[in-house]
Amino acid sequence: MKQFDGLPASLRIEGLTVKNFRVFRDLRLEKLTPLAAFLGPNGSGKSTILDVFAFLSESFSGGLRKAWEQWGRFKELRSRGSMEPVIFELKYREKPRGPLMTYHLALEEDSRGPYIVEEWLQRGKTAGKSQILLEFKQGTGFVLDLDAPGENGRRMPERLDDRDILAVSAFGQISRNPHVSVLRRFITGCYISRLAGDDMRKRAESGPQEHLSPAGENLAYVIQYLQQQHPARWEQIIQALRHRVPQLEYVQALPTLDNGLELQIKDAPFLESIPAKYASEGTLKLLAYLIILYDPDPPPLIGIEEPENHLHPRLLPILADECREASGRTQLLITTHSPFFLNGLRPEEVWALSRGEDGYARAHRAADMRGIKEFMKAGALLGSLWTEGYFEVGDPSVRPNGMNHPTG
Ligand SMILES: Nc1ncnc2c1ncn2[C@@H]1O[C@H](COP(=O)(O)OP(=O)(O)OP(=O)(O)O)[C@@H](O)[C@H]1O
Ligand SMILES: [Mg+2]
Repeated sequence: MKQFDGLPASLRIEGLTVKNFRVFRDLRLEKLTPLAAFLGPNGSGKSTILDVFAFLSESFSGGLRKAWEQWGRFKELRSRGSMEPVIFELKYREKPRGPLMTYHLALEEDSRGPYIVEEWLQRGKTAGKSQILLEFKQGTGFVLDLDAPGENGRRMPERLDDRDILAVSAFGQISRNPHVSVLRRFITGCYISRLAGDDMRKRAESGPQEHLSPAGENLAYVIQYLQQQHPARWEQIIQALRHRVPQLEYVQALPTLDNGLELQIKDAPFLESIPAKYASEGTLKLLAYLIILYDPDPPPLIGIEEPENHLHPRLLPILADECREASGRTQLLITTHSPFFLNGLRPEEVWALSRGEDGYARAHRAADMRGIKEFMKAGALLGSLWTEGYFEVGDPSVRPNGMNHPTG
């Protein structure tokens, strides 16, 4: 069975609110596009946006208590200086003109550990027409049974065994309400890539695998799977790679004497291929990105950290186009410092993060900044506008109070 079977490929997050989570005391992103890029100075919160989805996904798949422990409990999870609950709110549509769904999750901690203050899922936005599909407060609440007779379903009271159990995660596994199970699959399936060259060069041992792991150490196994199950897709990936890495002929996953699998890169001029251990960092990264973006059954949301690292700048606008193409099948959130990558994007797709005088991060869409759309209509490229200082925020040489640094 496909891992993401049953998930509508058209589900897209349109809004994200994060409160009291690390550097985000109160972050609101509205009108999020299927492809969105985040830029800004070091420490402005780009990676933390991806961490929101990684934290939620881990909480859903391994339980809140485990994720809370691994992420340093509230000492590290909660914004410095705040004593309020950590809140996540996702606004999404399961299909393009479907009703707006809102998922709200508020978390707290006390001496017994983490717990859910409140968790609800609502369908529709106007008060009169909206429907609460699920609502829980500290372990008690209800799920709306849509199969029950009557137009509006029936509220089925439920009690969870523990106050740290996520209701959507628990009830999403039984199909009383299909919207709850869609949300569970969506959050569990979010994939945040943390590709590392050294991990991709490892000779990990496992069977064929459908999806790349966050660090990419199962690269050879995913290639083996693609070659066997999706040869046409694999050919597309190799073609794309050949166009970008001069002289590269093919990539293969070869069995090793110890029953492992090793990635080998074959360059056209040589008879023998080269093991992944000695392959170039950029080649491996590019291969991994292509595998993620051309995935025949992609995760519902993909986060990619600074794809520009190790890639030639001329490849970045092409990668941006490929990301947009893939965003027809999945949602893509990308952090970047690269004007070349930005050159391939639209102002609606770009968010500049910055930190205020209070230390917390905020976000501004390039499309909402003065003059940006007009300059672009006149032929300017987004990356050039950014580096030339036309963005109102996100310049590391400008202090939160608008003053320039003495060095800037
Ligand atoms: N609990 C917290 N409260 C407030 N701020 C925090 C908390 N935890 C981490 N931070 C701050 O959040 C900032 C944002 O980090 P993040 O990794 O998201 O930045 P970034 O924009 O990805 O930077 P880079 O470009 O260097 O990758 C860090 O500077 C860190 O000091
Ligand atoms: Mg970062």
